[in-house]
Amino acid sequence: MKTYKIAVVPGDGIGPEIVPAALKVVDALGEKMNFRFEKEFYPWGAGHYLEHGEFMPANGLEILKPYDAVFFGSVGLPEVDDTLPAKDYTFKVRTGFQQYVNFRPVRTWPGFHGPLKDKKNIDFVVVRENTEGEFVQVGSQIMPDTENGMGIDTSVFTRKGIERIAHYAFQLSRKRRKKVHHITKSNTLINSLTYWDRVIREVAQQYPDVEHHQMYIDNCSANFVLRPEIFDVVLTTNLFGDILSDLGGAIMGSLGLDGSGNINPEKEYPSMFEPIHGSAPDIAGKNVANPLGTIWSAAIMLEHLEEHEAASKIMAAMDKTCADGILPVDLGGNAGTTDIADTIIERL
Ligand code: NAI
Ligand code: MG
Repeated sequence: MKTYKIAVVPGDGIGPEIVPAALKVVDALGEKMNFRFEKEFYPWGAGHYLEHGEFMPANGLEILKPYDAVFFGSVGLPEVDDTLPAKDYTFKVRTGFQQYVNFRPVRTWPGFHGPLKDKKNIDFVVVRENTEGEFVQVGSQIMPDTENGMGIDTSVFTRKGIERIAHYAFQLSRKRRKKVHHITKSNTLINSLTYWDRVIREVAQQYPDVEHHQMYIDNCSANFVLRPEIFDVVLTTNLFGDILSDLGGAIMGSLGLDGSGNINPEKEYPSMFEPIHGSAPDIAGKNVANPLGTIWSAAIMLEHLEEHEAASKIMAAMDKTCADGILPVDLGGNAGTTDIADTIIERL
């Protein structure tokens, strides 16, 4: 039996509800398909910070490094400084493990429709650059308490960083509908994003069979709502991708639907899989959180582990569950987090 070593970081808020729900689905499938997840749980996050003064131990990355993958919920609590979750956990893992691809798919689901009721053909992937751009956290606050105070953040776009994410996006599009929209704002960010455009255009020349469009972020946001069917692979910067993928979740029907992978394509380091949303403390502890995005993340993890058939089976069982009208509360249904997982297991 094939065994995968998985580090599980449920995190805060709804994390400890949706992560076990997703793992239950994977375990049930593994029994039928002759693979097994050997799991180790790490109770890291904002709750851990309240007790121990740190989101994860100083050697957290060393602890995670030997695993085949990291399965993650989300971190952050209202009572903890909200500048810490990304800085002290999420970005540390994404950057430390060169998870430079943030893979965030968006599609129409059976059984319900999102707010775009007449859009039946939504099927695209947001490929977000995940290690540089606007989120490198290089900057400072100068004289913040004075009337001349200022805050400065720097965007960093390197040739290496742009080339590798662009190659990933174009290669991905070759397995799909061969169309890449690269998102920019180079009309105003005339240094960083003109460079982003230039390097992407250079990479695009190596993929003459792929349709390539450049689109401004403002227009792209409008098109997510008005013409989402035009997109196949949406190649974005770190900040733009963060925002666009929540919009992607919203046009599907809920943030709770969207899964993602923080991927190191070279597999030199473990990749990390998590729903796109946050820890949703407003609904935590009530068994009402939608686990579908987390279960989708598990399917993306199985794809990454080359368990393609298992990943498809999970997607099919999620589709059947929704098509049968078993829906979580955020989609207008009344099924709890655990009911959804149990129903998916029945439908596997
Ligand atoms: P959020 O995504 O946690 O919640 C936004 C809204 O969507 C809330 O009304 C929530 O109830 C709802 N929602 C989210 N996931 C849901 C699900 N699975 N089922 C049903 N409803 C769901 O974003 P928010 O409120 O801005 O942030 C809360 C905390 O999460 C903050 O501390 C933030 O820093 C953290 N966060 C952490 C992330 C991560 O660890 N990767 C990503 C985004 C936010
Ligand atoms: Mg986000």
